[in-house]
Amino acid sequence: MYRCPFKEFRVRVPIIAGNWKMHKTASEARALVREIGHALPSSQVEAVVCPPFTALASAIEAAEGTLVRVGAQDLFWKSQGAYTGQVSPGMLTDLGVSHVIIGHSERRGRFGVPEPDFTSEILKLFGDTDASVRKKTHAALAAGIVPIVCCGETLSERRAGDTDSVVATQIREGLAGLDASHSATVVIAYEPVWAIGTGETCAADEADRVCGVIRAAFAELYGAAAGGAVRIQYGGSVKPDNAADILGRPNIDGALVGGASLKAADFLAILTAA
Ligand code: PGA
Repeated sequence: MYRCPFKEFRVRVPIIAGNWKMHKTASEARALVREIGHALPSSQVEAVVCPPFTALASAIEAAEGTLVRVGAQDLFWKSQGAYTGQVSPGMLTDLGVSHVIIGHSERRGRFGVPEPDFTSEILKLFGDTDASVRKKTHAALAAGIVPIVCCGETLSERRAGDTDSVVATQIREGLAGLDASHSATVVIAYEPVWAIGTGETCAADEADRVCGVIRAAFAELYGAAAGGAVRIQYGGSVKPDNAADILGRPNIDGALVGGASLKAADFLAILTAA
């Protein structure tokens, strides 16, 4: 990372990550990464795609020789053992995974769009909490994987006026106990749950304000310099037509993009906006 002569300031390289969620087979992923990789506008922006586990290997193979980096959508903090269905940090680094999304609201069982088949019983299966987010973040960093740690409030929390305290708690609890070098690596994604997959975007000013709250919470943990250096993405219905407005705000250093990351043209347009 570029360091300017004033120690307390660092250039925050924008980071745009595509969260593909449960989309794309291995062969579809290969084709999409090739398309993005060939057209990637510049090296001024970090470009990451996060396919499902089953498509990581083909995405990594297709990304070779391009500026595209490949991330996972989750990991488990144990290195190995009897944990059926889990994937360890070492399994990801062995493939060449460089980033991982941690604590996405969907993994925490907090969905923006109510679905009739998500009963409370089923929601319990999406089990991330601030405590598991912390363990996963530490495990990712120890393995040399950049964690993209998600936080954000639900609509009812926003309506109750609890937005700032919800995100500050998620940061305090989810990101506690990092050492200094690790605190410089972590990326935070502010994703208001009500704006994910709904077409509702948080107004750019408000997104910027909440990212400022997150920055302050991080600074409380690790000091002003770390607060000034940490990269914070906005996520929630980011599209080519609203990307420039959102990405132009002082506290927003990139985007975590869901739906619009599934088409090369849209994802590239957002990268260009950054
Ligand atoms: P969206 O998803 O861009 O489709 O709203 C963002 C996310 O969930 O990361």
